[in-house]
Amino acid sequence: MCGIVGYVGPREAQPILLEGLRRLEYRGYDSAGAAIAQDGVLHVRKTVGKLARLAESLQADPLRGHTGIGHTRWATHGSPTETNAHPHQDTNGHISVVHNGIIENYVFLRAELQAEGAVFRSETDTEVLPHLLRRYYTGDLLAAVRQALEQIEGSYAFAALAAEHPEQIVFARKGSPLVLGLGQQENFLASDTNALLPFTRRVIYLEDGHHGLLTADTCQIYDAGGTPVAAAPSEVQQSAAAAEKDGHAHFMLKEIHQQPEVLRHLLLSYAPEHGLAQTHTAGTSIQFPGLGVLEQRLTEIHRIVIVACGTAWHAGLVAKYLLEPWARLPVSVELASEFRYAEPCLDARTLVIAVSQSGETADTLEAVRIARKFLAPVLGVVNVPASSIARAADGLIYLHAGPEIGVASTKAYTAQVTALTLLALHLAQRRGTLPQELMAERLEALRQVPGQMQEILQWSPKLDALAGLPAYKNASHAMFLGRGCNYPSALEGALKLKEISYIHAEGYAAGEMKHGPIALVTEELPVFCIAVQGSVYAKTLSNIQEIRARNGRVLALATEGDTQIAASCHDVFYLPPCPEPFSPLLAALPLQLLAYYIALELGRDVDQPRNLAKSVTVE
Ligand code: G6P
Repeated sequence: MCGIVGYVGPREAQPILLEGLRRLEYRGYDSAGAAIAQDGVLHVRKTVGKLARLAESLQADPLRGHTGIGHTRWATHGSPTETNAHPHQDTNGHISVVHNGIIENYVFLRAELQAEGAVFRSETDTEVLPHLLRRYYTGDLLAAVRQALEQIEGSYAFAALAAEHPEQIVFARKGSPLVLGLGQQENFLASDTNALLPFTRRVIYLEDGHHGLLTADTCQIYDAGGTPVAAAPSEVQQSAAAAEKDGHAHFMLKEIHQQPEVLRHLLLSYAPEHGLAQTHTAGTSIQFPGLGVLEQRLTEIHRIVIVACGTAWHAGLVAKYLLEPWARLPVSVELASEFRYAEPCLDARTLVIAVSQSGETADTLEAVRIARKFLAPVLGVVNVPASSIARAADGLIYLHAGPEIGVASTKAYTAQVTALTLLALHLAQRRGTLPQELMAERLEALRQVPGQMQEILQWSPKLDALAGLPAYKNASHAMFLGRGCNYPSALEGALKLKEISYIHAEGYAAGEMKHGPIALVTEELPVFCIAVQGSVYAKTLSNIQEIRARNGRVLALATEGDTQIAASCHDVFYLPPCPEPFSPLLAALPLQLLAYYIALELGRDVDQPRNLAKSVTVE
């Protein structure tokens, strides 16, 4: 949700800012801008639309200089116009700011600053920052930042530049991520490490309250109280290429195809092959080294609350269907954006699991903070190391999925479901609620899933052809149905389709269809139905008949070897046979691919769908 980047050093700043922004564009892409200091002047360029527009403008007419800040925006306050794009300037254009987050008391501050003579040009909350800095600036921008921080409320990661001091960038963070990158006689900052990888691997993750100053060869960090912080840099392991498309047409397609490999890696990390034999004996096959102190508390817990947003919430819903029967613990799955404003019943024996790809989603992070206030143990299931949720949790399960750049989550979803499946087995083992033989059987079946995913991916052309049928690609609405652990699959399938194709889609528990959604069924309405073999197969088949009886068009995901289903559906895509609890992992792939190919048919921007952003760091 907005990406910021900064550079100070001997090189030309422009190409570095552009490359950093390119790697942050998944965070927002409705406008972009940069400010570069040279000869006592701040040169600013802003364009509406994708970063490519800014790049074109800068190539045609470059901004020269060695210190600069850049921004890619996801609009919160003020529509995506050039005036509302960052960087924002004070009245006389001597101070420039890029910001990610929301300044909540901006209306009050704006009125105050306007009364003092500040000239506001945009409708944004951010613009109060350069004017506030100007109010306090007497030649020391860092001192002005300190005073401004006392006035602002909300969440922010910002970087500021003063025309008079082209050798420094000042920064502050509270509630939105900010990472410093340390180079040789040059320094960087960015919203995440992806933007820094082409330039340096030595990074410092800033904490809330941290603020400071970067020059080419110094890096000063202070905590909220103004005390210097001696932060040790960490070395980022991830390769710069991990954030490239690797020959795929889109990041989303690359990430869909990475799923078998991601799951193999997860299984290898937390349930290595040799553990199978141990399952029968010592029962130690699944291990989560990141659980730390939580490991000891697992046997004390009497309840689990999963908090998450979007796709991660769907992964949590799948997990409920496994955790309850296997570990015999009551599980509630809460939307973090609702949970944080409710009055949750939590205690020290309630395990709160925060599921988040980015580890930065503002609502999920706040849910974690609330859980901690109740002294509930918090487990983070996250993909991004050193993210805010990773740092706030008591224990961690990393997804090891590599950077997910496509805005629509794919590999992170199946990684989340797999990690939570392993956790369910681990808890069952610790609590003695699942016989060892069954546990070994489950684990063995789970190990087959990556190979089965690969089989499904080989059938992509069939899904491509289905997506090309007018009945699907030209639909205005679509319904997704599933039962049991595939009810969340239906929700996720619908979310994928609406996110990237803009076709209105809803997911329902198939048994609920007759309580309302069936009124929508006509021959114009495609119904995507997950009807795999298992405990609810017969019931789901009945639901399909009910749709067919009303002329609905059904595309079913069924299990290979099913000889009945084809007669009741227009189209069937067959999945390899697997135990029902793992079928959501397999069902996810054709649902993702259908959404992908339909979106392509419609000429949509698959990786950067309109209005969305990958990392939602505002409430
Ligand atoms: C945004 C993304 C979704 C993601 C959700 C939660 O809406 O577009 O793909 O599922 O945020 O993000 P998180 O990083 O917490 O998993």
